Amino acid sequence: MTSLDLVKMVTGNFLGVVVLLEMIVSGSRFGANGMSMNYYMMSCPFAEPIVKNTVIRALQADPTLAAALLRMHFHDCFIEGCDGSVLVDSTKDNTAEKDSPANLSLRGYEVIDDAKEELEEQCPGVVSCADILAMAARDAVFWAGGPVYDIPKGRKDGRRSKIEDTINLPAPFFNASQLIKMFGQHGFSVQEVVALSGAHTLGVARCSSFKSRLSAADPNLEADFANTLSKTCSAGDNAEQPFDSTRNSFDNFYFNALQRKSGVLGSDQTLYATPRTRGIVNGYAMNQAMFFFDFQQAMLKMSTLDVKEGSKGEVRESCRKIN
Ligand code: HEM
Repeated sequence: MTSLDLVKMVTGNFLGVVVLLEMIVSGSRFGANGMSMNYYMMSCPFAEPIVKNTVIRALQADPTLAAALLRMHFHDCFIEGCDGSVLVDSTKDNTAEKDSPANLSLRGYEVIDDAKEELEEQCPGVVSCADILAMAARDAVFWAGGPVYDIPKGRKDGRRSKIEDTINLPAPFFNASQLIKMFGQHGFSVQEVVALSGAHTLGVARCSSFKSRLSAADPNLEADFANTLSKTCSAGDNAEQPFDSTRNSFDNFYFNALQRKSGVLGSDQTLYATPRTRGIVNGYAMNQAMFFFDFQQAMLKMSTLDVKEGSKGEVRESCRKIN
């Protein structure tokens, strides 16, 4: 063996080791944006259990908060990406997202505050509000009986929260094409639109969100259920109508309700009324495991929408206030 061969072998091995190390490191990463499943392993090893315990305590006291946390995460991710922008309070110079009509019925902010407070005691300035909200929504789904899934962490908190941005949230009167278009702009497939809408297996809508459906006869609204909705609305705009018969359980009853033309929102029932999405509704109504699988995949995707990394964001001291 010549000395040149030896040099080649050593450098070849060295490069091999470097490539191998890089593969191992990048294998634990999620995409190219620096997020990872074990992002807080060194900096705040108890971040996940702290959030989980806070969520469980809150849900034991009020099970309806599972729906609230899930919805809050969705409204966070669709506006400015999953960056905690929905959590920011308005100030005298800025009206924040949370004061938009589309967000006025969001609840559960105090659960995020509680988790943040404990995390700041354990590891100050480390865990972002956006990550806390994403973990809380994930834990809430599981607590309510839904699928268990892991999400990457490493979202930074945004420095912008403006009421006008919430125009990009879907409206309850949207038809299937409008839903598909809006979700498509965030990279979701038709199947994912239906799976994510299955989040309406949890929670309620207020009369103001569906009363426009009651003014004229609607062939996509079952007559007895129309009476139920009217009765709910007789108690006023804020009266609540559960999306399905089990408002605190994550199951596939929402899809069964759509098959009976007993969806609460126009944007729910349109998924059954439209041939393009009806087959997917029928599939999820028949097979809960399939719904759970697709939901968890779609949630993973939603939870990483337009994530801010590095200096594009910050770790807020208080989730309600930009640093
Ligand atoms: C497909 C488009 C969607 C539309 C048009 C829509 C619209 C709405 C509306 C109008 C309400 C009731 C608000 C009220 O009356 O106070 C609601 C509730 C809810 N939404 Fe959606 N939503 C959509 C998708 C989603 C997604 C993707 C998720 C989560 C992944 C979600 C989670 C929830 C939950 C859990 C509730 C119940 C909240 C509670 O009980 O506090 N929604 N949604």
